[in-house]
Amino acid sequence: MTSLPTTYPTIRVTAMPADANPYGDIFGGWLMGQMDLAAGSVASHHAGGRAVTIAVEGMKFHRPVIVGDEVSVYATLVATGNTSMTIEVEAWRRGRHSDEAYKVTQARFVFVAIGEDRQPRRVAGMAG
Ligand SMILES: CC(C)(COP(=O)(O)OP(=O)(O)OC[C@H]1O[C@@H](n2cnc3c(N)ncnc32)[C@H](O)[C@@H]1OP(=O)(O)O)[C@@H](O)C(=O)NCCC(=O)NCCS
Repeated sequence: MTSLPTTYPTIRVTAMPADANPYGDIFGGWLMGQMDLAAGSVASHHAGGRAVTIAVEGMKFHRPVIVGDEVSVYATLVATGNTSMTIEVEAWRRGRHSDEAYKVTQARFVFVAIGEDRQPRRVAGMAG
């Protein structure tokens, strides 16, 4: 049996019928949106201000998400540049009535910290 990671998720939400495609499974775009929200939360916290998505790398959908699943999104800052932050994001599903959990997607989201003028601004490095 596969279990959820032991760390706290950045986001946990129930997949609802309104998030499903015509076949009854969850839209990949909805899941990407949840991952973007989780990564954005980590990026904005680290930047201490506004941060926007500039790229999504290595997105892969391993398994489907079903209506009613509990979806947990784990977002971790793994690198910083001058103005950019790279956040590794995994989404996991757990069946509503089950203890079994599976990783369904993963990707690296790159965010850029921006100022009031919407231009890139420097962020602190990861160390210290
Ligand atoms: C974010 C934005 C202000 C950045 O301006 P820009 O002139 O494109 O930025 P730069 O070329 O100076 O790059 C900024 C940083 O992003 C990185 N970057 C740029 N393109 C990238 C890409 N395709 N993949 C990964 N990183 C990238 C650069 O390496 C740089 O990092 P560093 O400062 O840590 O070295 C501008 O691209 C923008 O407004 N984009 C739209 C963002 C948005 O609305 N997102 C939501 C989508 S609806």
